[in-house]
Amino acid sequence: MNFSYLNSTQIEFGQGQIQRISTLIPKDQKVLVIYGFGSIKKNGIYDQVAEALSEHQWLEFSGVEANPTLETMNKAVALAQEEKVDFILAVGGGSVIDGSKYAAAAVCYDGDGWDILEGKHTVTQALPLAAVLTIPATGSESNAYSVLTKAETQDKLAFFSDHVKPVFAVLDPDVMKTLPERQLANGIVDAWVHVCEQYLTSPTGALVQEGYAEALLKSLMRLGNNFDNQDDQWRANLMWSANQALNGLIGLGVAQDWATHMIGHELTALYGVDHARSLAIVQPWLLRNQLPAKKAKLEQMGRNIFMLPDSDDLAELTIQHIEDFYQKLNVSTQLTEHSEPKVEAIEKIIEQLNLHGMTQLGENGAITLETTREILESAIA
Ligand code: NZQ
Ligand code: ZN
Repeated sequence: MNFSYLNSTQIEFGQGQIQRISTLIPKDQKVLVIYGFGSIKKNGIYDQVAEALSEHQWLEFSGVEANPTLETMNKAVALAQEEKVDFILAVGGGSVIDGSKYAAAAVCYDGDGWDILEGKHTVTQALPLAAVLTIPATGSESNAYSVLTKAETQDKLAFFSDHVKPVFAVLDPDVMKTLPERQLANGIVDAWVHVCEQYLTSPTGALVQEGYAEALLKSLMRLGNNFDNQDDQWRANLMWSANQALNGLIGLGVAQDWATHMIGHELTALYGVDHARSLAIVQPWLLRNQLPAKKAKLEQMGRNIFMLPDSDDLAELTIQHIEDFYQKLNVSTQLTEHSEPKVEAIEKIIEQLNLHGMTQLGENGAITLETTREILESAIA
């Protein structure tokens, strides 16, 4: 398929690169630094950012939750408007960066910011934004996506705008040294599923996209298998792999799925499941459900990633290997967090998907609410 490609985010990769902020943000810009619940205060990242901004006028907004909410981010919007800030610096993971993207766009919009998520307002303007990444996972640091939750109604929606693509992103692998194992495993799984969403469709003949997707899967699998031997190289490889998995490149000109993500978002909104964990719960069952449509690509993945020999059940064996990979990282492949009976949990998820228009998901639009119901029958314990 035709495509037009520009990834304009300047990447500053490597140890000690946080200091680059001092020259990358013009000195005459008033900066709003946005961060989460204080991990950056404990691990020295805050101090490095403060040092780099010592010649700038800056203020801060903290308390962005994992899975950022509209309610919290609207307070950042109000602060940015009141203080007339020129530039937003997000210091955190996907949540802080996504929340900051929303703030950057909402500051320039007079209406209700949720319009942006509901597609009632197309972003045409945003404050410039940059990111200091503290957890490799989402790729948000150099893409144009943002996912936000309206806590009041448990709606988790995404928007896309090139106007909120970070101007630059600092990727210093040392920031990962304080990440809990749970977050590191989440990062591997999220990046892995990002590649799968753009690769596990039908054969495309796009040699570069498929070949690069496979290189990323191989890299992520090696990192997952070496989870207990983390060193500088391991961290650098994970940070770069996760970035490349969702910076737009491997999805160019090819069909994309994203059904696992759309269903997963509902699990997070309703049951507070970590984003990556919601994906591991949905994906294996979705792949089994969609096996006829995805057979050729699953077989290709089995041969090229898991080095499996040809057999009649190669596609199914590949799904089992994916599932084993998650389980070895202590990431569950079934939802256990729901408090109500299984039937009611399924009903609730289906209702939310319907409300959000997620009624024809997947690369062929073949995953209807009925199909999702079948998938959830297995995915929910
Ligand atoms: O709040 P603090 O104290 O900073 O703690 C955070 C948070 O609790 C902690 N953390 C981050 N860096 C740390 C650290 N702890 C110790 N040391 C560090 N260096 O980690 C916790 C999780 O952070 P979060 O930002 O939520 O993780 P992640 O990067 O996985 O982001 C998840 C969010 O991104 C969205 C997800 O839906 C979810 O809301 N996504 C965004 C995408 C995008 N923009 O392209 C695509 C993804 O598919 C995804 O949907
Ligand atoms: Zn994801």
